[in-house]
Amino acid sequence: MSVKINIQDKIGILIVDREKSLNALNCEVLKNILISLEKFIASKDIGLIFITGSGKKAFIAGADIKEMSNLDLKGAYAFGKLGQKVMNLIENSPKPVIAIVNGFALGGGCEVALACHMRLASDNAIFGQPEVKLGLIPGWGGTQRLPRIVGKGIANEIIITAKTIDAKEALRIGLVNKLFKKEVLMVESLKFAKNILINGPNAIAKSLSLINKSSGLKLKRGLKEELKEFSSLFNSKETKEGLEAFIEKRKANF
Ligand code: CAA
Repeated sequence: MSVKINIQDKIGILIVDREKSLNALNCEVLKNILISLEKFIASKDIGLIFITGSGKKAFIAGADIKEMSNLDLKGAYAFGKLGQKVMNLIENSPKPVIAIVNGFALGGGCEVALACHMRLASDNAIFGQPEVKLGLIPGWGGTQRLPRIVGKGIANEIIITAKTIDAKEALRIGLVNKLFKKEVLMVESLKFAKNILINGPNAIAKSLSLINKSSGLKLKRGLKEELKEFSSLFNSKETKEGLEAFIEKRKANF
């Protein structure tokens, strides 16, 4: 199997496990990621998902260049479509998906991180969209998600210079939410996740969905959607519990 999974404290951890190829993503790995994520999303035992890479060197070093070199036009379209399906599943997950970036996140690897709701990285992480070096362009959402996260000017720079960005720079431009020393990346990420897991899962899912929609909607329409969702919560058990717990000065039990 090219993907390992385990569950720890309500966190589903998906590890891309192709260390010899720096966890590069071929069709088989993409399909296994899809299956594992679908299971995580459906599981009642999981409230949050981590995606990371095996080994100490790479998160994901991109789409598998060797496999891509054999693709014809039809094959390239199918490969791009499969990759985009995985990225869309990540982005639209009602449970938060966090990229735990433990090394190289290049090309398709950076795109996996971009599709995630947040990125936590080790101090040795390296980001980049080096596709133009290969005479290619990002194909799994890089041209669309990177400018939405770091702004158009910086996205232009990253994509057309194909330069890599170290962890500190990634933090500075907002590509990464938090940086940790590589030895404590997983421990600190678990602590970070626990602080999310104490919150209302339905409220989290609705927030993620509205935030996702925000880039495609005019402000007036987005605010209308927000108002509809906000008011709809007032007959939910979760919201009642959250409000009552505050008034009764106790922790909410979601
Ligand atoms: N695809 C296939 N194999 C890869 C790979 C990739 N993206 N990245 C690394 N590997 C393989 C190498 O071929 C090598 O295998 P062999 O030992 O069989 O030769 C092994 O992983 C180790 O890699 P290196 O020897 O190159 O390790 P390094 O430390 O010298 O360099 C690196 C590390 C800078 C990450 C370098 O491997 C590299 O540049 N990789 C390619 C990165 C890249 O261009 N990614 C974008 C791909 S295109 C894409 O992703 C398109 C898209 O948007 C969908």
